[in-house]
Amino acid sequence: MKAAVLDKVGEPLQLQTIGRPEPLPGEVLIRLNAAALNHRDLWIQKGLYPRITTPLVMGSDGAGVVCELGKGVANSWLNQEVMINPSHQWGDNPAYYSANHKILGMPDAGTFAEYLKVEARYLVRKPVHLSFEQAAALPLAGLTGYRALFSRAGFSPADKVLVTGAGGGVALLVVQMAIASGAEVWVTSGSEEKIARVMEMGAKGGINYKNPTWYRDLLVKTKGPKTGYFNVIIDSAGGAGFAHLIGLAAPGGRICFYGGGSGNITNIVPAKVFFKQLNILGTTMGTEAEFADMIALITQHRITPIIDRMFPLEEAEAALQYMQSGQQFGKIVLTI
Ligand SMILES: NC(=O)c1ccc[n+]([C@@H]2O[C@H](COP(=O)([O-])OP(=O)(O)OC[C@H]3O[C@@H](n4cnc5c(N)ncnc54)[C@H](OP(=O)(O)O)[C@@H]3O)[C@@H](O)[C@H]2O)c1
Repeated sequence: MKAAVLDKVGEPLQLQTIGRPEPLPGEVLIRLNAAALNHRDLWIQKGLYPRITTPLVMGSDGAGVVCELGKGVANSWLNQEVMINPSHQWGDNPAYYSANHKILGMPDAGTFAEYLKVEARYLVRKPVHLSFEQAAALPLAGLTGYRALFSRAGFSPADKVLVTGAGGGVALLVVQMAIASGAEVWVTSGSEEKIARVMEMGAKGGINYKNPTWYRDLLVKTKGPKTGYFNVIIDSAGGAGFAHLIGLAAPGGRICFYGGGSGNITNIVPAKVFFKQLNILGTTMGTEAEFADMIALITQHRITPIIDRMFPLEEAEAALQYMQSGQQFGKIVLTI
């Protein structure tokens, strides 16, 4: 089969012909129609992820058709259109994953390939309102965003929500889930055009984080109290800008972050956190129950993940470079 393979950390992805996997007991083989990129793939390629194993078929997200069953898998899965929960072996504790937790696409071979073998327990039937490409764009970003917003930040539709870096794959799904639930949503982005697009989708407003006074200007725009406006803030940047989120949070607010793309947070004034009784929360991926709840929400509101651009599998390296450029609004998808 054809697959986009990372032979060594730091090298470009290469299209190679490798052996087709065979499903073990409890597993299925999927003929993939589409896969999607996540920032994780870039971190792995750059060697900025723990315990990287190569050669590696990368990719955590995919959708396709079940074409072969391992022993013990229900016959009803055969020929089903499916997507895959990439969060494997979470374990029994919803608060924290087990020592065996892993994400599809490292160390196990991932979705940048014609075929994938995976345990049947991680399959979900593709919602009928989604194409294969849209379904592939959903799992990792949707799960991360769902746990951040609902399970960790305790979101309810009455909350005023700020999502930073709204052009990102996870962030945009958080925006879509919060808007569909009826909340007032604001965003930051490094692009005026992206802010305008999110407002067309129903966000109330936004501000460009490249503007040095963005946090003050945003508070003015909300016409909220000087003590802070947002009950829920979802962030993936971290870095020096994170301290301003503390100023923007309403007293008692919840700030949840799942990434640190802008680096370490070194400038938090403790008194600003404790006098405002803020909750600062970290999150990663999610449980099987959260994956099911996320799919139910997406299906109920007929939310469609936004695909910025599609590349054929053969151009997986170009797709990664495009992600690195940060131009995208939403997800980057590989057609297979
Ligand atoms: N913990 C987890 O389980 C988990 C899961 C998924 C992702 N992540 C992490 O979350 C981050 C985003 O992942 P992704 O897949 O959504 O990546 P992505 O699609 O490449 O999005 C990255 C986004 O970061 C935003 N950004 C850049 N600089 C920023 C700044 N100074 N302030 C605020 N936002 C800024 C950009 O928003 P604009 O384009 O709007 O400027 C960009 O779209 C990555 O670090 C990734 O590793 C973690």
